[in-house]
Amino acid sequence: MTKNDVALKDTVECPIKHIAFIMDGNGRWAKKRGMPREYGHKVGAEVFRKIMRYCGDIGIEAATFYAFSTENWKRPQKEVDAIMKLLSIYLDDCKKELRTNNMRIVFLGDKSIFSEELRKKMIDIEESSKNNTYIVNIAMNYGGRDEIVYAANKLIAQGKTHLTEDDISSAVYTNISPELDIIVRTGGDLRISNFLLWQAAYAELYFTDKFWPDLTTDDVDEIVDAFKHRKRRFGGV
Ligand code: FPP
Repeated sequence: MTKNDVALKDTVECPIKHIAFIMDGNGRWAKKRGMPREYGHKVGAEVFRKIMRYCGDIGIEAATFYAFSTENWKRPQKEVDAIMKLLSIYLDDCKKELRTNNMRIVFLGDKSIFSEELRKKMIDIEESSKNNTYIVNIAMNYGGRDEIVYAANKLIAQGKTHLTEDDISSAVYTNISPELDIIVRTGGDLRISNFLLWQAAYAELYFTDKFWPDLTTDDVDEIVDAFKHRKRRFGGV
């Protein structure tokens, strides 16, 4: 995208304020090419960077990416290590990009399980980007049910004995993001796999057979266009 294109897009308000991606299909994408699954994640991480930047360029206010679920620890150690390494490399490398693109990184999920070194890097990036306004949520060790339990426990610890929907919305990990508009899942499966269960209540769903490493910025344009044509009723008529 050229600077002029970005400027043009900036003049038209994007109808999507908050988009979320289930980045599925890295393993199958690699297998089709006779490569190990870890290679799919490596290319997947490059696509993650491209798509996150593009979403900011077109005026989306928050983008959320499902990078590692609470269930993904069951994968072979080699694959888990490869994903952690990719995250670590990204965190070492992203500071300038975050500044230039006004991106604020927020991790969704319990960080206590990560190595001391990785946890420090995650906290450092959250801290150093906290004044930027385009929110990029990265779900790491994230589960939707786990998040609701976390939010409820947080509120109990604050002394609440009766919870409202607003209470829970303010205690989930995405509390600084706008309402979720759409969840996109690549890779052909038609489920949400414990992702953003609370936030998904009125979100649109968009499924594509494309594997995550094949997703392009043109696909994002198509998703925005499809969203424009959805009639959202939020339970009304
Ligand atoms: C799902 O595809 C993908 C994952 C569990 C990992 C996603 C991780 C990345 C894109 C890299 C993240 C990196 C950073 C820097 C955040 P799958 O492995 O389940 O694919 P399959 O369904 O084809 O097996």
